[in-house]
Amino acid sequence: MADRVYNFSAGPATLPVDVLEQASKDIVNFKETGIGLIEMSHRSKEFMAVAADTESMLRELMEIPDNYKVLFLQGGASSQFFMIPMNLLGTGKKATYLNTGTWAKKAIKEAKLFGDIDVAYSSEEQTFNRVPLKDDYTIDADSEYLYFVSNNTIYGTQFPSFPETEKDLIADMSSDILSRKIDVSKFGIIFAGAQKNMGPAGVTVVIIRDDLLDKAPANTPTMLNYKTHADKDSMFNTPPCFAIYGVGEVLKWLKQQGGVEAMEARNIAKAGLLYDCIDSSDYYRGHAEVTSRSLMNIPFNLPSADLEAKFIAEAAEVGLMGLKGHRSIGGCRASIYNAFPTEGVEKLIAFMKEFAAANKA
Ligand SMILES: Cc1ncc(COP(=O)(O)O)c(C=O)c1O
Repeated sequence: MADRVYNFSAGPATLPVDVLEQASKDIVNFKETGIGLIEMSHRSKEFMAVAADTESMLRELMEIPDNYKVLFLQGGASSQFFMIPMNLLGTGKKATYLNTGTWAKKAIKEAKLFGDIDVAYSSEEQTFNRVPLKDDYTIDADSEYLYFVSNNTIYGTQFPSFPETEKDLIADMSSDILSRKIDVSKFGIIFAGAQKNMGPAGVTVVIIRDDLLDKAPANTPTMLNYKTHADKDSMFNTPPCFAIYGVGEVLKWLKQQGGVEAMEARNIAKAGLLYDCIDSSDYYRGHAEVTSRSLMNIPFNLPSADLEAKFIAEAAEVGLMGLKGHRSIGGCRASIYNAFPTEGVEKLIAFMKEFAAANKA
């Protein structure tokens, strides 16, 4: 596919070309059935097999223990911001949140609708350029859970290791799920919108320990109760069929690449190239503190906003797209999820060097 560009978008984001090519065939005629994948009943044996295979690959790749349910939900990762407290809190109940960026803040706002929320840490005054170390906060003894965002997509920070606590950990892994090996048994809930590291937009994967399914107050609406979806294997109503299929194809690709551990090694090397380029120059400045750096999203600045605008425009002319930083911090951002090729990072680095030499501050 010679006419494809390098797409640094934060999400929806680059998917493996093989997955896109397979999807383009399956949309028209799925497995020689004569019916396109997005036309077939979600209760057909063909689609039921797609959903079951997708779940079993995710279980295998993430080594999800048997006492966890995997749910494929709609409403975006943002709906988890209210579903979690709606299912787990209620009058008089408390939870602790770590405020490490826009997505954590939005989750805190929603959680306050359902319980007493203790924000034990915030890096807002430092423009969210870091995540906390374990001694930077204390967790209230009465809290039901500790909520955090494992990778902060906008600010380019990532927890290098996870909080250690007896409390249930709840993590928004929307922008780093499957990018590194994790121990699922340490978590109560992990959730992630698919559109960064897992597939197309439209499905949110929720991995939930089964004892948490019985905590929802009696007045929880049916569609917003995790148990509804767990009891029906995410087929209580029509699921987002194409998105689930897309996740399945990405997981097949991930297995072929050697699984999560191989991907983690590649992600460390790939992000390392870009951080080395930033660190070895006075021209580019990374946003995140070094010990909090993300392997997935790398925001950086140039000497001025004018130079940043010129950089983004000229990069696009040579096929390096989507480098504009999020509107809340401006500057530039390279999002380099699992499927983003190392060659694209190398091309960006070559461009950064040329641009710095040609455009003095
Ligand atoms: C870490 C994180 N959480 C949540 C969201 C919101 O996801 P959605 O648009 O699926 O609601 C995003 C979107 O970029 C994100 O990066």
